[in-house]
Amino acid sequence: MSFDPILSRRFGTPGSHTIDFYEREDRGYQAARKALGMTAAQVIDEVKKSELRGRGGAGFPCGQKWGFVPAPKDVPGPRYLVVNADESEPGTFKDRALLWYTPHAMLEGAIIAAHAIGAESCYVYIRGEFAREAVRVGEAVREAYAKGYFGRNVFGTGRRIEMTVHRGAGAYICGEETGLLSSLEGGRGYPKIKPPFPAVKGLFGQPTIVNNVETLACVPLILDRGAEWFKSIGTPGGTGPKLYCVSGHVERPGLFEFPCGVNLRALLGAAGGVWKGRRLKAVIPGGSSAKILRADETDVAMDFASLQKAGTMLGSAGVIVLDETTCMVNALWNVLRFFHHESCGQCTPCREGTGWIEKLVGRIERGGGKQGDLDTLLDVAANMQGTTVCVLSDAAAWPAESYTLKFRDEFEEHIRRKGCPFKKESAMAGALA
Ligand SMILES: Cc1cc2nc3c(=O)[nH]c(=O)nc-3n(C[C@H](O)[C@H](O)[C@H](O)COP(=O)(O)O)c2cc1C
Ligand code: SF4
Repeated sequence: MSFDPILSRRFGTPGSHTIDFYEREDRGYQAARKALGMTAAQVIDEVKKSELRGRGGAGFPCGQKWGFVPAPKDVPGPRYLVVNADESEPGTFKDRALLWYTPHAMLEGAIIAAHAIGAESCYVYIRGEFAREAVRVGEAVREAYAKGYFGRNVFGTGRRIEMTVHRGAGAYICGEETGLLSSLEGGRGYPKIKPPFPAVKGLFGQPTIVNNVETLACVPLILDRGAEWFKSIGTPGGTGPKLYCVSGHVERPGLFEFPCGVNLRALLGAAGGVWKGRRLKAVIPGGSSAKILRADETDVAMDFASLQKAGTMLGSAGVIVLDETTCMVNALWNVLRFFHHESCGQCTPCREGTGWIEKLVGRIERGGGKQGDLDTLLDVAANMQGTTVCVLSDAAAWPAESYTLKFRDEFEEHIRRKGCPFKKESAMAGALA
């Protein structure tokens, strides 16, 4: 399957991260110049028409979200634009590459978004572990300031847009937008109940748009080449080019770019297929929060609507492939350890629930499982959904439910045999490492 990459076309090209390269080779900052000559409503309208959906996880329509920012007469005071560069979902590594190879694409998208929502202050909230990317993004911001693309008089238009890079401290929950904003304000990264949504009441209590790095990297393309061009790529269930992170038991794991909605089997083919000549057992299509697909469910388009119809989600497009030797109990235990560790502890169903289900699944894997454990597991998982401040709790319950329901015989066999019938080296620990 051939597709000329767009977002990733410069990945690996020396110098692609510099402003000179971006302006010389990729029409850099032309789209932002054009956008600043348009009204905010016109920019929002173009992004709405493109049907760009957020690449951070929830897949919310980008232009529509920008349109939720209230008019200054209704809510006076500053507006903020925040770039979510906290990328921590296991199996996801696309934003890191965008930050490293083409930071100016994201910065240009941020200028356009800031103009559209009337923000004078922007922040990039970057994952603590992304030390070298933070340095590179900082350099890119300085380059853009030096050319007058940020500051008090952006492109000589009299418009003020400032950009600050803020480093996180390595907590997964700070990727959740309200947790991120709490952290950015200087507090603990505790999520807040929505509504009010950040678009109405966000950073420092003011209207705020939080957008993912890849979402913003798509925005200059839309302004430059037009919404119709963007929409002509992909499917009605997800428009535009899309980065997919393929890891686990494939011959050639890595980052792949295709039109949104590429068939999952074709994507696996591009990654060289299942490794070592083995058969496919299951695929996690959208990061560790996503419900798992059995091998016979993988003939599916990798877009927002199709995966939702298939009972799962595109999420962060972290595609984790599991071969026939994988123990699904061990795989689930691995995922649940992560969520238990990352729960911020504010809500009882999440704080206690993530611990309970992790312990239950660990016990089954180690041979101490009892009759009734699976019913308890499903009962706890059901009570963890829709009852908490943010969806981390749901995100832990979804794999717990889907692995148990789709591979129930394996869980029961563990309980019957009082141990794991698979060899230890089959554990998904290797796939997620
Ligand atoms: C537990 C949790 C972790 C998240 N982590 C990230 C993340 O690392 N990066 C990201 O862009 N969005 C993450 N999100 C989604 C954000 O809350 C938010 O929806 C997103 O940044 C919005 O950007 P978009 O509309 O451009 O996708 C996370 C959500 C949850 C519930
Ligand atoms: S659901 Fe979990 S992570 Fe989210 S706020 Fe509640 S305790 Fe924290």
